[in-house]
Amino acid sequence: MSGSLEPKLSALYEFSSLPLFSSEEEIAEEAMQKAVRRFGLRRFALLTGPKGDRKLVASHGFKNPQEVQEGLRQRAPHQFYAVIGEEGELGELFMEGSHPIGKEERKVCEFFAQQLERSLLASRIIGEYKQALRKLKKRELRFRALVEQSLVGVYIVSLDRIFYANEALGRIFGYHPEELVDRLGPLDLVHPEDRLLVAEELRRRLEGEAEYARYSFRGLQKDGSVISCEVFGRAIELEGRRVVLGTLIDITERRRSEEILRESEERFRQLVEEIEDVIYMIDERGVITYISPPVERLGGYRPSELMGRPFTEFVHPEDADRAREVLRSGLLGRVEQHEFRVFTKSGDIRWIQIVSRPIVEGDRIVGFRGMLRDVTERKRMEEAILRAKREWESTFDTIEELIFLTDADGKIRRVNKTTARKLKSEPQDLIGKKCREVFSCGMAGTDRCPLERVRKKKPLRPFECEASALGIWIRARAYAAYTSSGELDYVVHILRDITEERRSQEALARYREALNRSFFGTAEAFAKLVEERDPYTSGHSLGVARLAVAIAREMGLSEREKTGIYISGILHDIGKIAIPVEILVKPGRLTELERALIRTHPEAGYEVLKEIEFPWPVALATLQHHERMDGSGYPQGLKGEEIITEARILAVADVVDAMTHHRPYRPALPMEEALKELKRGKGRLYDPRVVDACLKVVT
Ligand SMILES: [Fe+2]
Repeated sequence: MSGSLEPKLSALYEFSSLPLFSSEEEIAEEAMQKAVRRFGLRRFALLTGPKGDRKLVASHGFKNPQEVQEGLRQRAPHQFYAVIGEEGELGELFMEGSHPIGKEERKVCEFFAQQLERSLLASRIIGEYKQALRKLKKRELRFRALVEQSLVGVYIVSLDRIFYANEALGRIFGYHPEELVDRLGPLDLVHPEDRLLVAEELRRRLEGEAEYARYSFRGLQKDGSVISCEVFGRAIELEGRRVVLGTLIDITERRRSEEILRESEERFRQLVEEIEDVIYMIDERGVITYISPPVERLGGYRPSELMGRPFTEFVHPEDADRAREVLRSGLLGRVEQHEFRVFTKSGDIRWIQIVSRPIVEGDRIVGFRGMLRDVTERKRMEEAILRAKREWESTFDTIEELIFLTDADGKIRRVNKTTARKLKSEPQDLIGKKCREVFSCGMAGTDRCPLERVRKKKPLRPFECEASALGIWIRARAYAAYTSSGELDYVVHILRDITEERRSQEALARYREALNRSFFGTAEAFAKLVEERDPYTSGHSLGVARLAVAIAREMGLSEREKTGIYISGILHDIGKIAIPVEILVKPGRLTELERALIRTHPEAGYEVLKEIEFPWPVALATLQHHERMDGSGYPQGLKGEEIITEARILAVADVVDAMTHHRPYRPALPMEEALKELKRGKGRLYDPRVVDACLKVVT
């Protein structure tokens, strides 16, 4: 707001309300009081009457009339002197302030003088004009001259006729008085839109509804320009008829100033209300003396609900001490920014930020003004970030794996506490060092180094190695993080100590090995035990097992299946333990009964082996190893696919081994004989695939 506009306007307003139609003494008294107060005068004097016949009607600060006379002759920068009325016909005015009167202030003084003239003039018109008209022609002329020379427009009108207009009135509207009197009506000087208003005002006075009135309207000048007018009008009886006598001043300038002030106030108000920030003022005790309307958006309170209350009333209890401290530090004259929590009208908690400046009067701080804004969202975000940071750091540090981040050039950017502990160091001592210096893993520059792989754009893979600096075995994984522009930002390395894991894996492997060895040893020993009873078949089981495995290999069976076949081969004749040794070693042909007895050995073996939990079908292979493809075998007479592969392989290996070894009832046959037998039985007795594989193995 302009510094000089407001006091000027308020003075204009005050002086424009000087009384009209009162006695000169009353006017002088009120004018003096207003002027003394408004201008802060030391001395004031008002004399009325024409030159040579003046009387002192009001004075202030003078000891006696002589001093007034001396004062009137003085001219100094802190004094104002004006004659009232043209040529001083109405009187003279003297005002003296305590400091030089500025340009703007002098204008207001002039306006005051003008208003004073208007009041004195109106007073005289009322008091004496009628009398003059009736009685004293001379005085009539004198007052007519007086009125005509006035700067204030004076008129006498009816609703449709102007009986009298002085020169000033003509000048205000751009006419010669003669162009107005008896030629135009008062409404011709009024803007069309305000004519109804003015006509109503005139009618009320002409019809006696109201004695006098004061109002404003838009006037219309001769050239069509619009001006703002203010009139004081009063109904009087003149030569037997009721007319309105009034004074009029052009307030266009004042209106314009008021408009500027109003616009500037409006702009300021809009500014204050539209900005997100809340503007406030508090006094030195912390009581809110002003707060701008946007506070309602923030806290739900209307400004009127907050003004007059201490601001600490709205502050969260945990922040109250700090808020009071803000006030105290503010009283020391510091400009400070603070953040604390406040309660809204609905009881919610919001974070606000305030910037406060002291308001100084003289050498004393009388309060603060500043801006306040809602920073809740920002605070919440900050808290979330802090929480995330804490969570991430504690996770990072408590995790059992060794985690560290390296820059694009291999320098350690961050390590977790586990890493530092394993390296018997502190995190801050490791940061900035080259990764290879710390871990001396011997991978720098090699294709195994994660950083190297990132540079070569190769995928990162986990690997295991012995970290010599740590004295442990590790399984390492790495992940690359890139900046938004695609540059390598850092590499995350996660190392897991697998020393224990590796030790137990090795122990487990050794244990498994031992277990295997003891199992096979047991199986073989068991087979030997059976064979001991029949020296002729000694080594038969091992021979069948080896040949069967060779056939299985030729057929492309898996390692696991081959192991199963080996064990089945070792144990396939284990059922012979139930057959009397006499029969087993009997030379020559066996009787039907003896043969039948021998034929029970697959089932006898099955009965023993089914109780043992093998990962292979050992019992079934034993049961079926005398079955034949055409169903001519025993004990079940199974055919083709009904016989498991293991049993079909054992059948072939058994026949070949048996034929090529000495038996009590016949000598060993040459391999060719055995192969002939196979070829003869291929497809009928033996699985053709097994036969083909066997032929390849033994020839
Ligand atoms: Fe057998």
